[in-house]
Amino acid sequence: MSQNVSRGRSVGIGSLSRKLGVALGYLVRGDVRGLRERLANARRAHRNRDPITHYQSFPEARGSSNSLEKLKALRLPPLAGKSFLDVGCNEGFFCGFAKFQGAARVVGIDNNPKSIAAAQARFPDCEFLARSWDELPEGEFDVILLASALHYASDQPALIKRLIDHLSPTGTLVLELGIAPGAGDAWVKVTRAIDEREFPTRAKIESLLAEYAWKKIGASVPQAGDPIPREVIHVLKRVPIAYLLMQPSGHGKTTISNSLFREAKVPSVSGDYLLCLAANGTIRAPAGIEAILAKDFSSGRIDVSVREIFNRRIAEEYVDLLLRNAGDGDFAFDGFIPREHQPEIISILVRKGYLPVRLEWDRIADGPSPAVHVETAAARYRDHLASRRMRPTVATTK
Ligand SMILES: C[S@@+](CC[C@H](N)C(=O)[O-])C[C@H]1O[C@@H](n2cnc3c(N)ncnc32)[C@H](O)[C@@H]1O
Repeated sequence: MSQNVSRGRSVGIGSLSRKLGVALGYLVRGDVRGLRERLANARRAHRNRDPITHYQSFPEARGSSNSLEKLKALRLPPLAGKSFLDVGCNEGFFCGFAKFQGAARVVGIDNNPKSIAAAQARFPDCEFLARSWDELPEGEFDVILLASALHYASDQPALIKRLIDHLSPTGTLVLELGIAPGAGDAWVKVTRAIDEREFPTRAKIESLLAEYAWKKIGASVPQAGDPIPREVIHVLKRVPIAYLLMQPSGHGKTTISNSLFREAKVPSVSGDYLLCLAANGTIRAPAGIEAILAKDFSSGRIDVSVREIFNRRIAEEYVDLLLRNAGDGDFAFDGFIPREHQPEIISILVRKGYLPVRLEWDRIADGPSPAVHVETAAARYRDHLASRRMRPTVATTK
């Protein structure tokens, strides 16, 4: 936080003319020594300002950080009705914004009691706690913000992990941090105007966040006195992916599934195969599914059994059968689901903590007709034949 920069920024037109007036007063009185002393005192006072306590900027009190520009750079997710935690919240600028946006619960923590007192005075309808981030508040949060603060942590990877552990299943950690130059996976010691801190290189951030889903959002505002450019990154918990190949028979689902997912070591479960195994008693299925299979099952018309699962409204049992056989992580499901029932399968998977990815493609040739259609067509044809009452032809021999 270079004093030149912050002082230059804090001088508005009104305060400038006031200062000129005071200086002129000294000059008119011929008190050059007095003027010099006054300027030295002002410089000392400014130097002694606590750069952390006077960090955020409000219209009536400008600190060393351009908080409004930082807010824009953060690109916070929608906050209405959400829970929001700001870790290292300083004077509560971002907590105030979250409340302003309609967040249901807003908590700010900071280990500087002066900052917390100021935050509570400014935003009485937010909850502020004067404590270290080693002791996070109870509960899960939809959005957690850690801005310009990671470099103060004694164990930076542990802090990131702790914050992600406090996210709701679909929550976002908004990280605003300095990225040090350098190609290696390293922490780089950086000398700043106020202290010396360690910042991660890009490769270090990539390795720290490898097990999460994350996205670089963009550059943040520069911080005077700090040579390290800042970035904003959004981090989410990585949920297992369910790749869904649900098109009718003959689309090449199994071929595509084998070629794509076997190579990537993603287990692939075949709905047809599981239903066959459950029908012949090799595996157990939930009770409703076993009842359907016991009544009427043929490996040549599995689509009829699948439709019956939806007629009886036991889609959740079918998803349970798949998940029992899919392992704990990503998996691919290869099995026909009637188009009108696909949203049901997707919402059950979301509820169970998966990210469903529906894969669709166009067939280039006709596939087998659905078993139900064949049954109808065959019955009609039988009736047609019967109605013509054709006499059997008799072969004649010469
Ligand atoms: C550079 S300021 C950033 C403030 C705010 N996040 C922002 O971007 O405007 C860093 C903040 O982290 C706080 N802080 C530092 N160490 C902390 C700790 N161990 N626990 C909680 N807060 C801490 C400081 O008091 C300070 O308010």
